Amino acid sequence: AESLGIALIGCGTVGTGVAKILTHHANRVTTRTGGKTVAVKRVVARDAGKGRDPAIPSASVGTDWTTAVADPAVQIVVELIGGTTTAKQIVLAALAAGKHVVTANKALLAEHGQELFAAARKAERVICFEAAVAGGIPIIRAMGESLAANQITGIQGILNGTSNFILSSMADNGASYANALTEAQRLGYAEADPTLDVDGSDAAHKLAVLAQIAFGVTAKPSDIEKQGIADIQAMDTRYAAELGYTIKLLAEAWAADKTVALHVAPVLLRKTDPLAQVRGAFNAILVTGDVVGETLYQGPGAGMMPTASSVVADIIDIAVGRAQKTFTAAKLWSGSREFTIVPSE
Ligand code: NDP
Ligand code: HSE
Repeated sequence: AESLGIALIGCGTVGTGVAKILTHHANRVTTRTGGKTVAVKRVVARDAGKGRDPAIPSASVGTDWTTAVADPAVQIVVELIGGTTTAKQIVLAALAAGKHVVTANKALLAEHGQELFAAARKAERVICFEAAVAGGIPIIRAMGESLAANQITGIQGILNGTSNFILSSMADNGASYANALTEAQRLGYAEADPTLDVDGSDAAHKLAVLAQIAFGVTAKPSDIEKQGIADIQAMDTRYAAELGYTIKLLAEAWAADKTVALHVAPVLLRKTDPLAQVRGAFNAILVTGDVVGETLYQGPGAGMMPTASSVVADIIDIAVGRAQKTFTAAKLWSGSREFTIVPSE
């Protein structure tokens, strides 16, 4: 059977999940690719000697990403190391070597998306990023493809699983902020630097990615006003509950008259609001389109297997040639110049 070679650059939480799916569901993946076997040819990590899940054969783990990316047996480079410096070099090197890229790295896309997608167009390769926003929820395809008949006018999202886990643990279980954050880290939800989760940066990165798809705008960090949850105490969440409210970290984009305002902040939602009922590391996104009206997407927004689910979907889409259509479509990552970003009121 035809084989598709993968270089897994990063085998921490998400990379391990990807290796597990490719190992435990190999037959399913081969069926979905139309008969191609997906084989992990290279695995790259910082520490080649670390004990890892049996789905990652220790003999395949190295520390040199340049060799892995250049390996002629590799057709898809899966970037799962995080950060924006080495990750950017890896993606550019992969594209230059004629490889397709799959990434879950929203910080990288928010900061360098324009340059990376320009490089992808030039190389006639794709960068797929379903896992970069809202983990296991297929929000990129929903907004990029399924809502194509609409002009999106509003996005309201719980886009950071760690903050939502912390806020719900404080409100529902009386956990302290510090203990809830430690637990989110233990469960593999948090970023390597969890400041990005709790100060609103991660949600802002994801909002920037969604705004690119919905409005064709490239948001700079200063374009997204953000406030995090670090000052919220367990007492605040309890008082809010007594008054019939829930505190949620919301990322919002509102468009009107070809302008769009973007911000991230903790807000009080009535307990009956669908977004108020999203608990733990789940995410939810309410997307309003001018034709369809309001649509709501909900599911696990962080964690090993949900995120890996989206990464493997991207790999399968590349294998069958679908991603080469979707992820290169003009709407998905291009400056339309139609909308202007304005400050939030
Ligand atoms: P982890 O910290 O668990 O894993 C990172 C992996 O990358 C590790 O295997 C690490 O090696 C390796 N690594 C880090 N730096 C380097 C380097 N310079 N060279 C080679 N290898 C390196 O991160 P996650 O799996 O949680 O996250 C990966 C990416 O996915 C990030 O961009 C994150 O934002 C994104 N993401 C994460 C989600 C989650 O729920 N965790 C959800 C959605 C997206 P070693 O194992 O030796 O330390
Ligand atoms: N740290 C991120 C979160 C991972 O908690 O939402 C998913 O992108």
